[in-house]
Order: sequence, then structure tokens, then C-alpha cells
Amino acid sequence: MTLIAPSILSADFGRLAEEVKLAEEAGADIIHVDVMDGIFVPNITIGPLVVDAIRKSTELPIDVHLMIIEPHRYINHFIEAGADILTVHAEASTHLHRTIWSIKDKGIKAGVSLNPATPVWAIEEIIRDIDLVLLMSVNPGFGGQSFINSSIEKLKKMKKIITESNSMAVIEIDGGVKLSNAKSIAQAGAHILVMGSEFFSQKDYKEFMKKLREQLDEN
Ligand code: DX5
Ligand code: ZN
Repeated sequence: MTLIAPSILSADFGRLAEEVKLAEEAGADIIHVDVMDGIFVPNITIGPLVVDAIRKSTELPIDVHLMIIEPHRYINHFIEAGADILTVHAEASTHLHRTIWSIKDKGIKAGVSLNPATPVWAIEEIIRDIDLVLLMSVNPGFGGQSFINSSIEKLKKMKKIITESNSMAVIEIDGGVKLSNAKSIAQAGAHILVMGSEFFSQKDYKEFMKKLREQLDEN
């Protein structure tokens, strides 16, 4: 089954706890949290305090996407706040192998994210060390951007590397995922679909999840 991870970046922050609960009740599988520092990406969002607040609002796994430089400095803060999956960017981490293991050694899942211009082979040497590959299908920084179509080919390449190396890593796609393209992304090999604007712009999340599962032939 394809897992759906609503990104709270597009939620109503004034009602964040309620939004997270509604997403859970609608059948979402994971809560995706976008952390931005204004340096690695042009936007600034949230830190561990908000992850801590979300932790109290849901039983779902919290998937924290760190779009920050020097992510190793903040790993413990996000783990203590309740992250279940911590993903760092390959482009932002000088000692990626060490960073990944400092996440895994704390007993949670470690992911690595790649910007659209970063080739899949950038993480070939560590593919057996990681639990998740997060492929950005937009340039990170903002919700509501258009899906970069070449991401489908990249996803297939990534899948091949994972299969051939006997890695257990799952692939998550982030950026521009809609009801209309979800099925083709899932068919190309994605296990987790992040959805920000498409999900939180719906009036009825439950109804939307039903349509999405139908679209994915998983109802
Ligand atoms: C972008 C973030 C995404 C974002 C996706 O930098 O990493 O998680 O919330 O938003 P949509 O689904 O609107 O493209
Ligand atoms: Zn994200």
C-alpha cells in the first residue's frame, strides 16, 4: 500500500493540533513536518517545539524533513521532541554517514533527501545504511509548486539502485503531488507520497483520502 503523508506546511497553523487530528481521522499514514532554516532554503518554518506539540496531537509517525544546514547539530532536539523519522539533505551534510548513524543509534529511522539536481548516485555508498530516501520533486522551500516531471525517471533510477543493492530503504516523493499524478508516481516505485497544498486545501479530508485511495486502486 502507498502511504500518504500530509505536510503540515500547508495546514492552518492557528489550528495545528486540530488539523493533525483531522488528517489522522481521515486515514493519513504519516505526518510530514518541514523544517526550514532560511539558509539551506529561502523560507523559515518551525523547530522542535512545534514537533513536540504535534507529538501530543497524534499517534501517527512523525516524519521530520530537515531543510537546514549542519543538520547534525539538531538531531537530538528533534528526536527528543518526538520525531520517528528524521531526514537530512545530502547537500547539507558534510559527513552524511556519521549523521545517519547518529540518528539510527538513537533508535529512530534515518532518511536522506536529494534536491532535484542531485543525482541518485550521490547516496549509492550509503544506501544500505538508510531507511528512507526522500526525493524532492520540486526545489525545496515552499508548498504549492509544480511537480518536476523528470522526477519519475529519477525515481525509477533510485528504485533500481535500491533493489540491486538489497537495501531496505523506502522511497518518499515530496513536492507537487496531486490526486491527478499520485498513481503514476506510486507506479514508478514510490512508497510514501507527501502531500501539502493538495491535501490541506480540501474541505473534507476524509472524502479526499477516499478519492485518493480509489485513484491508487487501494480502496
Ligand atoms: C517543500 C516541502 C514539501 C511541501 C510540499 O520544500 O518539503 O514537503 O510541503 O508541498 P506541496 O505538496 O504543496 O508541493
Ligand atoms: Zn518536505
